[in-house]
Amino acid sequence: MKSDPSRIAYQACIAPGCGERHAVDEAHVACSKCGALLDVNYEWDRVPVPKSLREFEARWSNRRNPLDFSGVWRFRELLPFAPPEAVVTIGEGQTILQRSESVGRYVGTRPGNLFLQYEGLNPSGSFKDNGMTAATTHARMVGAKTAACASTGNTSASLAIFASTTGLFRVVVFVGSGKIAYGKLSQALDYGALTVQIQGDFDDALARVREVCSRLKIYLCNSVNPFRLEGQKSIMFRVLESLDWQPPDWIVVPGGNLGNSSAFGKAFSELKHLGLIDRIPRLAVINASGSNTLYRVHEQQGIRWNEGRLDHPAIDSFYAEMDAQGRRAATLATAIEINRPVNLVKCLRALDTCDGVVREISDEEILDGKAQAGAGGFGCEPASGASIAGAKRLREEGMIAPSDRVVCILTGHELKDPNVTVNYHSSASARLANRPMAVENDLDKIIAALSKFA
Ligand code: F0G
Repeated sequence: MKSDPSRIAYQACIAPGCGERHAVDEAHVACSKCGALLDVNYEWDRVPVPKSLREFEARWSNRRNPLDFSGVWRFRELLPFAPPEAVVTIGEGQTILQRSESVGRYVGTRPGNLFLQYEGLNPSGSFKDNGMTAATTHARMVGAKTAACASTGNTSASLAIFASTTGLFRVVVFVGSGKIAYGKLSQALDYGALTVQIQGDFDDALARVREVCSRLKIYLCNSVNPFRLEGQKSIMFRVLESLDWQPPDWIVVPGGNLGNSSAFGKAFSELKHLGLIDRIPRLAVINASGSNTLYRVHEQQGIRWNEGRLDHPAIDSFYAEMDAQGRRAATLATAIEINRPVNLVKCLRALDTCDGVVREISDEEILDGKAQAGAGGFGCEPASGASIAGAKRLREEGMIAPSDRVVCILTGHELKDPNVTVNYHSSASARLANRPMAVENDLDKIIAALSKFA
């Protein structure tokens, strides 16, 4: 990046009536004037953006440069907010898109049309590393020494690995009590993060960490941080790259705090604006039915982005009713067990950009989707199974056509939550269970048992 980022990047309030700007080297998680979410925006005419996305491929041959090795920063002209010397990278974003015939058959698409984007192959085992490289880079730009997040597990693992690998920050992570998967909790502990388990769920933990960060001037790395989402745009750049820069028909992604879906919408809107793609894929965001705020707001109440003039009173009364009923998020896909998604408004904007839809899916369908991914090779954690289950549902509805090219984002690695996997495969009722066989310690009995497979 030869241009000076402070001249081309700024933070802007997303509310059209406000539009307040903040400098790129300040730390904010909300507009200081009206409290709405912020975007990182660019003066694109000052950015040396390649004329064609294909030009990024030249960087594959220069992998000794950490910025070219990174699956995020090799697209740096599309997130030009940082001087190269500030970039914090640990080799994130080396992820692959694979065609899956078995998942395609399960979903009901034509052969060759179903793709899985394995974000579990990131250093900490989830897509979060795409965002954390950007957030920690910004933390370094503003001189932060301590960083924090609330997490259902993956954000904390990601922040902790960036801090421990680089030694640049102390890290505090807040997790809710009980529900965090052990694969994720073990990472935060192993990587040396100060881990605070507060009584309550993720929604409580996030509310508290925001207060703590504001009071103690700690740098907040949740997806309210607009720099996180800049990094997560690169997931879409890599999907396009793997498809030879031809946009698919559908991107299907699980929805939790709605950072990914928001980032994907921003990525496509910017690529279209820059003339780098001619068509925007449709976006399907999949909620677990036990934590389905987006589904209720978008599909049941019909609340739309409406050029930023959303029906805020309707959203407020939705939350007031949720609180009055004491409704808490509850799903086996603990990564997305969230009832107050902080990026709700940005996600509504992304759904508008991408002509998107939202579906809610039962835990049973999520786990079947996850098992189907595992049976086809690389597995995923429960939340990611929502992508496959959601694609299947949309195909059954006829929303997705058999001829559509569909990309399901697998957000986290299979080994994040082995308990759920083993329980599923041990269960008498799970549809796709591969039950372990108990055999006595006796050669003949073992041979007899194995004869079923001969
Ligand atoms: N999939 C996985 C594996 C996740 O860890 C998360 C979010 C999501 C999907 C949802 O993504 O928030 O962008 O809609 N995990 C967060 C965490 C909340 O704390 O690790 P989103």
